[in-house]
Amino acid sequence: MIKVCLAGATGWAGSELARAIPGSGDLRLAAAVARTHAGRSLAEVLGDPRLACPIYRSAAEALVDPCDVFVEYTKPDSARANVLIALERGAHVVIGTSGLGDTDFAEIDAVARAQRRGVLACGNFALTVVLLQKFAEAAAKLIPQWEIIDYAHDDKIDAPSGTARELAARLSKVRHPEPTIPLERTVGPREARGATLSGSQVHSLRLPSYVISAEVVFGMPDQRLTLRHDSGSSARPYVDGALLAIRRVSTLVGLHRGLDAVLDL
Ligand SMILES: NC(=O)c1ccc[n+]([C@@H]2O[C@H](COP(=O)([O-])OP(=O)(O)OC[C@H]3O[C@@H](n4cnc5c(N)ncnc54)[C@H](OP(=O)(O)O)[C@@H]3O)[C@@H](O)[C@H]2O)c1
Repeated sequence: MIKVCLAGATGWAGSELARAIPGSGDLRLAAAVARTHAGRSLAEVLGDPRLACPIYRSAAEALVDPCDVFVEYTKPDSARANVLIALERGAHVVIGTSGLGDTDFAEIDAVARAQRRGVLACGNFALTVVLLQKFAEAAAKLIPQWEIIDYAHDDKIDAPSGTARELAARLSKVRHPEPTIPLERTVGPREARGATLSGSQVHSLRLPSYVISAEVVFGMPDQRLTLRHDSGSSARPYVDGALLAIRRVSTLVGLHRGLDAVLDL
């Protein structure tokens, strides 16, 4: 059995993942992390008797008893510190939290390599996002211009989304887009052209009624390709990918981004 500590187990995404662990057959939820219900049992808080593990206020407290895999599903402001503590305590780490930047990932990679542990960071565990990434990489080999649009609910605090950041980072490994008019020659507010992330222009919409959608538009003379992922309102699309990441992360050393690091696509 793989012993799991889940940070953010009472949240929207973390609670859906927590409920899937008891039925998995090979994973055991040993500890949860969340502040509001610290000191209580996750079973009581989520109303599911199968989740009989304690909730700790911090990752440091939860990891006094070591685990095999630490899952980070809290918020961007606590994610980096949680991941570093987990690595120091000898756990492999799966990161679902979005909002970490390149500097955070560089530090996490260095610590993971020093500890000989694997870290798998997925801005979005949904299968259709993994496919979007793969198809976009193929398109970027042939089409030199694209822009990314990231849609999310109005109360999402981080922008761009982890999905958009990850997509931009992956496309930068294929090539950097070549806009016809360089951004510094934009006439009008520069912000109108979006943020530059890993070389890609990224535009983030935050409006009621969206959940999470990601779109990349490739353009070339007289033809255009749009690739788009949309998720519904439940956290179900993220569960299977997260379970796979938990099962496979121990085969990795250092930081890897994207579920395809452990998928045969
Ligand atoms: N990779 C993916 O596929 C995927 C899918 C969905 C969401 N996400 C990302 O996952 C993250 C969580 O999203 P969510 O919608 O589940 O958020 P949420 O519903 O607000 O849940 C956050 C969870 O983290 C806990 N938490 C927050 N800050 C904490 C801290 N400082 N210390 C300890 N626990 C803390 C919360 O409990 P307390 O407030 O009681 O501490 C709660 O259990 C976000 O970054 C989101 O973008 C990723």
